[in-house]
Amino acid sequence: MTSSAPFLCIGHRGARGHEPENTLRSVRRALALGADGIEIDVWFVDGELIVIHDARLERTTNGRGYVSRKTCAQLRALDAGEGERIPTLREVFETVERRAVIHIELKGRRTSGPVRALIAEFVERRGWRYEDFVVSSFHRAELRTISDPRIPIALLLTRPTKLYALSARHVRAVAVNPALRYVTRPFVEDAHRRGLKVFVYTVNEPADLARMREWGVDGVFTDFPERVLAP
Ligand code: G3P
Ligand code: CA
Repeated sequence: MTSSAPFLCIGHRGARGHEPENTLRSVRRALALGADGIEIDVWFVDGELIVIHDARLERTTNGRGYVSRKTCAQLRALDAGEGERIPTLREVFETVERRAVIHIELKGRRTSGPVRALIAEFVERRGWRYEDFVVSSFHRAELRTISDPRIPIALLLTRPTKLYALSARHVRAVAVNPALRYVTRPFVEDAHRRGLKVFVYTVNEPADLARMREWGVDGVFTDFPERVLAP
């Protein structure tokens, strides 16, 4: 049976199927396609929250080496695809401007404090709501140190284990986000019984999208938002 709850479309790294991932151009494309949420990957480097997926620069930019060993100015001088710069998280917030929920994946260490502070700034000074954000990570220690119960948290899982719910409770998660390859219908049902939402990554193929809808998952991360919104 298909659930009547909304099936949310979260643009993965913006709209990665169409634009250079994790760039403002990609974020704008996901918004234009009507995504309910925008997912991006965040590191804290040289005092700035920057948006990039890998620990190294080669795959997505014209730079070389580890992101964490660069200055912010060096990172910002790079081409992240089609002339786009590596954005800051602040630029992503200002681009989204509350038109979608921002799913912030903490990739690097020591990102949780600066992310919490930036969210607080937008809530307290700019009229945003904590519900405009979800902070997620595979790193439980980072999620623990978010330490603000008003910020929604999602625990990223590769293959869910029997103890996943304990981990979710430990980080005060409101959602668990498993990989498509490992998610099962009993897992979705178990998470829902426990009051957890389930967002699955990364779902691009029509047959997989149909299966996720059928199983009642709450939403998917997708490189192609239009495939979710106009199946
Ligand atoms: O947030 C879900 C998904 O983005 C996690 O995997 O490798 O695409 O960051 P990855
Ligand atoms: Ca991610």
